Amino acid sequence: MVKVIVVGSGGREHTIAWKLAQSSSVDEVICVPGNGGTASENKCRNIPLKQDYITDGANPYVEIAKHEGVTFAVIGPEDPLAAGIADAFWNAGIPCVGPKSAGAQLEASKDLAKEFMAKYNVACPASKTFTDEKSAHDYIDQHGAPIVIKADGLAAGKGVVVAATAAQAHDAVKDLMIDGRVGNAGSKLVIEDYLEGVEISILAAVSVTPDFTKNGQSTIVPFTPARDHKRLFDGAKGPNTGGMGAVTPLDDVTPEIMAKFNSDILEPTLKGLMAEGFDYRGFIFFGVMITKDGPKLLEYNVRLGDPETQVVLPMMDFDFAEMCKAIMDGKLKDFNFAWKKGYAVAPVAVSGGYPNAYKKGIPISINASAESMKGCKIFIAGAIEDRRANGAKGKDLSLITSGGRVLASCAQAATFDEAWNNAYALMKQISFEGMFYRKDIGLPGAAESGKL
Ligand code: GLY
Repeated sequence: MVKVIVVGSGGREHTIAWKLAQSSSVDEVICVPGNGGTASENKCRNIPLKQDYITDGANPYVEIAKHEGVTFAVIGPEDPLAAGIADAFWNAGIPCVGPKSAGAQLEASKDLAKEFMAKYNVACPASKTFTDEKSAHDYIDQHGAPIVIKADGLAAGKGVVVAATAAQAHDAVKDLMIDGRVGNAGSKLVIEDYLEGVEISILAAVSVTPDFTKNGQSTIVPFTPARDHKRLFDGAKGPNTGGMGAVTPLDDVTPEIMAKFNSDILEPTLKGLMAEGFDYRGFIFFGVMITKDGPKLLEYNVRLGDPETQVVLPMMDFDFAEMCKAIMDGKLKDFNFAWKKGYAVAPVAVSGGYPNAYKKGIPISINASAESMKGCKIFIAGAIEDRRANGAKGKDLSLITSGGRVLASCAQAATFDEAWNNAYALMKQISFEGMFYRKDIGLPGAAESGKL
């Protein structure tokens, strides 16, 4: 009996659970805590984080995994990774997909990530780190704008300000470092050169340990490049969000760009992970700016992207659970990656008012025929089962909203047009009060940033 535990509750975790469940080698996927999507997903079962059998001070995810007799764990979000959840799983004898805490600091500290990039010659924008306000303001005065201000610590995507003017940059320093908008994460700031270009996300599987390195088994394998659309409105306008939709692959990412990404970013990163002696078996997310001087690394995330996962995983034409095993066992170099032909597009539907205050608990209506549309799948993020719905189960399960980003309507098809049309046709089968989504995910002019 192969049971896998998936840690997390977002759209990324629903997609991971769905993909794991497709593996003939997986009998059950335990989602902790999961969401309204994983609640009714084939082979999946949600378990709440609070259980009577968990003793005080123990890691609740590990305790649940032990109680359920799981075979291995897959960790979705960055916070538990930075806090050492992968160390805890391996120490308990349960293999885990996700880097141990030392490697996870590449996302948890922007300063440490920049030091790593400099040490291993990873192509990236120049930057300086500041722990006192006056030096940060002086640097902005000397440097001018545009300029990028980043909180050093984890800030749930809210710690980066791209300042178009020096005044905005000074405000950002005050907001992050003095007013504490992102708490302690802003007590140290990384101030980085602004790069003009187009942003992409490259997610990758990583299998690095000191033993694998000794045996020539350490490797990183990139997935198809994807693009997230972070602004709220069409044409990349309006406030930043956690992601309004994603598309993969990208026609503007040529084989030449990928070759340069491999030589200037991926290979030096692999060298660095090996040289530091990290036990990094999981995923890495390269946030990359394609500039006229080639790809430059803006950030590492130590997990899969959200909503990029909702388009990249549907394109995989291989067994995700087997890939996870290859990551953990040092067999990734021999793993046979195959990708579906065509494209995947996934606009995200958000609650009215998001990214500011929004109502929760709003019933979601999904037309019964929606998921029988070819190549289509709804990935649930901020929605839970409606406990008032008289014990409804499976397909009759009612959902209510519980977050800002509620769901993604994903379509995978042989052509971009077909994928795009199907994703939006699927979205039209869904409604809830206040529902809002962008109408231009993946179209020209929808990408974040400027010209090359
Ligand atoms: N889509 C951006 C992220 O996952 O960080």
